[in-house]
Amino acid sequence: MAIKSGQNKVGGGRSCLLKHIPVMLNEVIDSLNLKKGNTVVDATVGAGGHSAEILKHIKGGKLFCLDRDEDAINFAEVKLLQSGEFVRCFHTNFENIADLGLENVDAITADFGVSSYQIDTAERGFSYMKDGKLDMRMDRNDAITASDIVNTFAEKKIENTLREFGGETYSKQIAAAIVKARPIYTTLQLSNICKHAVPESYHKFYGHPAKKTFQAIRIVVNEELKAIEKFLDGAIKVLKPGGRLAVLTFHSLEDRIVKHKFMRENIDCLCDKNMPQCICSHKASIKIVTKHPIEPSVKEVMDNPRSASARLRVIEKLK
Ligand SMILES: C[S@@+](CC[C@H](N)C(=O)[O-])C[C@H]1O[C@@H](n2cnc3c(N)ncnc32)[C@H](O)[C@@H]1O
Repeated sequence: MAIKSGQNKVGGGRSCLLKHIPVMLNEVIDSLNLKKGNTVVDATVGAGGHSAEILKHIKGGKLFCLDRDEDAINFAEVKLLQSGEFVRCFHTNFENIADLGLENVDAITADFGVSSYQIDTAERGFSYMKDGKLDMRMDRNDAITASDIVNTFAEKKIENTLREFGGETYSKQIAAAIVKARPIYTTLQLSNICKHAVPESYHKFYGHPAKKTFQAIRIVVNEELKAIEKFLDGAIKVLKPGGRLAVLTFHSLEDRIVKHKFMRENIDCLCDKNMPQCICSHKASIKIVTKHPIEPSVKEVMDNPRSASARLRVIEKLK
């Protein structure tokens, strides 16, 4: 983890960062109950869209921003410091939120997944529409790339990965095609392999034939689900009593983790129903603010199709 020092080294990706539209901005801001002087954490600052709005509501307060993508954190830091407010940026995985010396935080938000910048910058290797090296690392200091997975995993392991993390119906066929085509160097090569491994009618039912494969590989490269689990525990820990956590998810695997964690922390006892008395001593630490996740408006989905699968869940730490 590194605390940033205020130099912008983003270069060519800057225009993509400028293009990112924050998802469900009003809903996120409203749900955080922000007040002047608050201390807030944006765990996924990205292009700073949510953070810029947060700063307007916490005048005189403190905003701590996290991102594991160095380009994003460099860009966001320069942008947000222009507000003249207190902003500190950390280049780190949000799973480390409880190790940053933060405590008594009034509000925390996270907007999971990839940014438009990451998808639109071909050389980052996230896009199945643009040609680039098979990378997909959010933090380019990480060791494992998409190329390692595609070119070294056993066929069965690729098949399981595509099914488990992409929900890909044709995982077996795509895995076989990948192994047959090795070595695979670029995103468009992989995209074409997916296209030829599935029936022609695929897109009518499931969308782009490479979409689920790319999602699955990206989740494994970045160990995304493990990070979310750890983040939720850490975030609840550093919130102050009465503080709010608002989380945006973009697919069912993310949403399920968030939903289950919130349900678990919302109840007093986790013992089997057949136990005569509680032996776990678990105590509820939060209350759920959103019984059902909030979805984007029809207008937002039309203006920004990327928001279509967004789900917002909010909790409040118990006093
Ligand atoms: C959807 S974007 C956030 C956009 C931001 N809310 C905005 O309005 O500009 C998601 C960001 O989260 C970052 N990210 C994803 N997983 C992360 C993790 N485990 N730790 C830290 N940052 C992460 C990505 O690098 C990306 O910049």
